[in-house]
Amino acid sequence: MSAITEIPVHLPKLLALFKTVVPKLSNNKYKGQYGRIGVIGGSLEYTGAPYFAAISSLRVGADLAHVFCHSNASAIIKSYSPDLIVHPVLDCADAVEKITPWLERLHVIVIGPGLGREPGILKTASNILKLCLEVKKPVVIDADGLFLLNDNYDLICGQRNVILTPNVMEFRRLFGEEINAARQKMSLLGDGVVILEKGANDKIYIPQANEVHTMPLGGSGRRCGGQGDLLSGSLATFFYWSLQSNEPNPALIAACASSYFVKKLNLAAFEKLGRSLLASDMVKEIPAIFQAEFEKSDSQ
Ligand SMILES: *[C@@H]1O[C@H](CO)[C@@H](O)[C@H](O)[C@H]1NC(C)=O
Repeated sequence: MSAITEIPVHLPKLLALFKTVVPKLSNNKYKGQYGRIGVIGGSLEYTGAPYFAAISSLRVGADLAHVFCHSNASAIIKSYSPDLIVHPVLDCADAVEKITPWLERLHVIVIGPGLGREPGILKTASNILKLCLEVKKPVVIDADGLFLLNDNYDLICGQRNVILTPNVMEFRRLFGEEINAARQKMSLLGDGVVILEKGANDKIYIPQANEVHTMPLGGSGRRCGGQGDLLSGSLATFFYWSLQSNEPNPALIAACASSYFVKKLNLAAFEKLGRSLLASDMVKEIPAIFQAEFEKSDSQ
């Protein structure tokens, strides 16, 4: 197997390209056309993760965000925000049947934030993933959604429009420690799966092309919980937009843009709060950072 080609992401080019992908706001569109995102996750222990993913998908510009969670979590998630639509379904015996009619109305599904590791819930989540893949729904798989892939790796092999967002530990658990073995395993994925490995420098693997696109350092040294959820949520909306554009490599564009964006959010909040910064502070930075980085000026 030949060496993996490392490609440093050229930021000015990326930003210029991504600006063309961001849809122009217009009065001719109806509600939902800028994106309808679904988040599968949320348990008794973890209610923040699905909230952060869903709210960031909205704050970057999606029109609607649905959270499909365990019934133990739904009232709590609703209480965080009236902007989210929350379905207490994951612990129902007929969870998949309940979610199926919603799927066709959603553009991208994020599987994993706050899902937890209860075997029954993981089984349900893997059935939902199967269904998404069957109907060719674009998916972002994060956190405990990646955990369920450890025993179900075949599910995503050869599929299209799948983005995985592991942190370093999740990456190792999924692909192993040894780079050649990892590449071997990655090569089974085919040309429709992209991996965004989160770290000090985020790395975006395109297994089929044997390429890894590396993002520059960014953000601060402050790594509080919830930042990965801001990434998966904004990535979902960006992924939908990139798929709508006619650009080749929509997953790569969306992954690079969301990686860059979350580091910028972190830095902006860090400048105000230093060590005290929390994921909810980063949410507050979304409007200004999005405007500054991704909105076209009137003359463009
Ligand atoms: C969580 O949900 C289960 C049903 O799936 C229920 O039996 C249990 O009482 C709930 N726990 C809490 C703390 O709400």
